[in-house]
Amino acid sequence: MLITERDRLREDVLAIAELTDCHRASLIPILRKVKEKYRGIDTYAMQLIADVLGIHPVEVYSVATFYSFIQPQTQGRLAFRLCRTLSCELEGKESVAEQLQRDLGIGFGETTPDQVFSLEWANCMGMCDQGPAMLVNETVYTQLTPGKVHDIVEEYKSQQEGHVTKRQAERVL
Ligand code: FES
Repeated sequence: MLITERDRLREDVLAIAELTDCHRASLIPILRKVKEKYRGIDTYAMQLIADVLGIHPVEVYSVATFYSFIQPQTQGRLAFRLCRTLSCELEGKESVAEQLQRDLGIGFGETTPDQVFSLEWANCMGMCDQGPAMLVNETVYTQLTPGKVHDIVEEYKSQQEGHVTKRQAERVL
């Protein structure tokens, strides 16, 4: 029997939902799991989650779009999330943001054409005394400067074979 991605998605959603008797308390764990495994939460997944939990799809959408860790749009394998809250703002987050955009070749809210990197804003992550701070997936980086963030991006790029920046993709077109 051919198992489709939708079958796998249904199995994943049911497995987590059954831990709480399909109570709405499963919503965030399910959204995190789907996001982590499928790197995005499309409308089919939202409807499926709503059906399994017996809630309205709008509720699923509201929760998914509220948390920066869940955001439903498809992301790259490596999600850079720079804190934009006040302490990090005062510590110079703007120059770090500019450097990130230059080094990754994308703006905030964008993903590189090869789906390797995405860049997003995040809200306070509890590292206010060590700002500017950012997450790359689950790894926290603090006391960022343009130079430090440049080295971090270069390190990640060197680990990604065949990575294509947005500018390189545009040059090919
Ligand atoms: S304000 Fe940026 S981590 Fe708290």
